[in-house]
Amino acid sequence: MQSSKIAGIGYYVPKNVYTNNDLSKFMDTNDEWIQERTGIKERRFADRLEETTTTMGVEAAKIAIERAGITAQDVDFIIFATLSPDYYFPGCGVLLQREMKMKEVGALDVRNQCSGFLYALSIADQFIKTGMYKNILVVGSEKHSFAMDFETRSRNVSVIFGDGAGAVVLQPTQKEGQGILSTHLHSDGADAEILAMFYPGSHANKWMPEKPGYPDQELGGLFMTTEQLESGAALPYMDGPAVFKKAVVKFPEVIKEALKANDLTAKDIDLLVPHQANLRISQYVQQLLGLKDDQVFNNIQKYGNTTAASVPIALCEAWEAGKIAEGDLVCLAAFGSGFTWASALIRW
Ligand code: ACO
Repeated sequence: MQSSKIAGIGYYVPKNVYTNNDLSKFMDTNDEWIQERTGIKERRFADRLEETTTTMGVEAAKIAIERAGITAQDVDFIIFATLSPDYYFPGCGVLLQREMKMKEVGALDVRNQCSGFLYALSIADQFIKTGMYKNILVVGSEKHSFAMDFETRSRNVSVIFGDGAGAVVLQPTQKEGQGILSTHLHSDGADAEILAMFYPGSHANKWMPEKPGYPDQELGGLFMTTEQLESGAALPYMDGPAVFKKAVVKFPEVIKEALKANDLTAKDIDLLVPHQANLRISQYVQQLLGLKDDQVFNNIQKYGNTTAASVPIALCEAWEAGKIAEGDLVCLAAFGSGFTWASALIRW
């Protein structure tokens, strides 16, 4: 069976830079707290009116498509991963198809938050392996800034996230041993509400955690009300310490699973590109796996956590910086809301 390889990669980040000090001008936070807990120094926020999750995805896709040596007309399938879509429905995949004037190809949206890009890559890999498609565009893009609350109640969340997009083109490769060696996907919904956005939704408060100000049962079952908006239940919610505890277990677990499946060890990894959740999480994972500094790539310092976009942005930056050469073993790994987690091993 043929393998798939990343034939082209690109990323796009908005030009508006917000440092931690910029945030502290309009919210109750400070540079020291943010850097100490997350490693983040600055992030990008999209233009409120001109840029959307789709338009950023389009910019990243254009670069990936050009580097793959094809045109938008050659793309035969689109997979778009995001948790911050332009519309509740339809998804960003069809909007990208329209914007890029592509043929009437299939467009699939993936909603697996921080693991979204790896889930999307895994799906694309299967379609290439079976020979169904030859040029699959995989995009991860997020515009978090539009749904951010800069009040003190949300400051543990709002300082972490940033906007941006990354994209790859997957193509078949005949070269022995090259390309995506394996992907591993996992989920455990037991803690689904630990990192979530509850509205708009159809859950009628069934599983929503109790939090002062959240709407009571009678207001559940309604799609979107003023009370839900005012209560903060339509904003991202995170139990930070609980996420940390689970992430530092599942990241190493899914990386080891990938290595074992390919008869490799952590020493064989040339570059680990983890989802940029939090620098402290990446450092802890690095330590647990016994990896050296030059075996791990982090750029959360500049962009914050861009969820589905973080892996392709980091992978592209690492590649552009010459940190990935042909034949290198690259490991991608992610963990996020759901919880879901995933890894991919690639022989570049
Ligand atoms: N600025 C200043 N002070 C803050 C801020 C802020 N932005 N946010 C919270 N605080 C304060 C709190 O009010 C609290 O103050 P108090 O002790 O006086 O009550 C104190 O800091 C501690 O608050 P916690 O919410 O307990 O903060 P914690 O120490 O857990 O740090 C953090 C929060 C950084 C999110 C941490 O829990 C963490 O690293 N979690 C890992 C999860 C994560 O990084 N998720 C990323 C996204 S999810 C993903 O991608 C997988």
